[in-house]
Amino acid sequence: MSKTPPLRLGVNVDHVATLRNARGGRHPDPVRAALTAIAAGADGITAHLREDRRHIRDDDMARLKAEIDKPLNFEMAATDEMLKIALKTAPHAVCLVPERRQEVTTEGGLDVVGQHNSLKPFIARLNDAGIRVSLFISADPHQIEMAASLRAPVIEIHTGAWCDATVAGETAKAEAEFARIITGAGLARAAGLEVHAGHGLDYGTAETISKLPEIMELNIGHFMIGEALFADLTEVVRTMRAAMDLGRSFAAPLS
Ligand code: PXP
Repeated sequence: MSKTPPLRLGVNVDHVATLRNARGGRHPDPVRAALTAIAAGADGITAHLREDRRHIRDDDMARLKAEIDKPLNFEMAATDEMLKIALKTAPHAVCLVPERRQEVTTEGGLDVVGQHNSLKPFIARLNDAGIRVSLFISADPHQIEMAASLRAPVIEIHTGAWCDATVAGETAKAEAEFARIITGAGLARAAGLEVHAGHGLDYGTAETISKLPEIMELNIGHFMIGEALFADLTEVVRTMRAAMDLGRSFAAPLS
């Protein structure tokens, strides 16, 4: 019998650390935010240890691993330094993202087609360590096919372009981007990949994308941490969960 799989919410706590680092010291603590998000219904926590340590720091990642009882999704660039830290931390999952020092956030997907030679052994090391590897890519059929051939079990579709166009009211562009995501999610599932999505999601776009039954997890950070300035984080997580559940109630069953 076919049914719609559940949809997990991963809360990204990077920007709690951004705020803390603005003053130094320990407040606000991203681990406290992670524990609060979990208590409110988050299914996992995501954190990105960037090369420049602009938000999450090594000690945050170690504390997250030690203190949360839900899956930790360790976002990182595919560098030797990060591989060493990931193997030592042993998170549930590693999400490989592109990283450029000058960028404000992760601007585009990882080019797994262009980098397949270096990514292949990198992914194999993580697979061998029992860490679930996710590749953060755009919904491009070539990238998706390559992700499957690199033996990464998961892809995360970059939703940034769709979210930006939606927020800007650029309807035609938003529709085209969303059509790409629908096609990509279908292709990825057909290739045996687990499909996640993230970047730029808010209550509205999270509700919409939750209608796609192939997508099993959303990773959301900036909007939720920003909203928590106006409503507390517990309420924000619950409202996001409700938006996702509403969208999911319209998802077609998967065969
Ligand atoms: N997923 C990945 C792979 C990311 O790099 C980010 C941003 O760090 C997110 C999800 C969350 O994006 P946002 O903070 O825009 O919700």
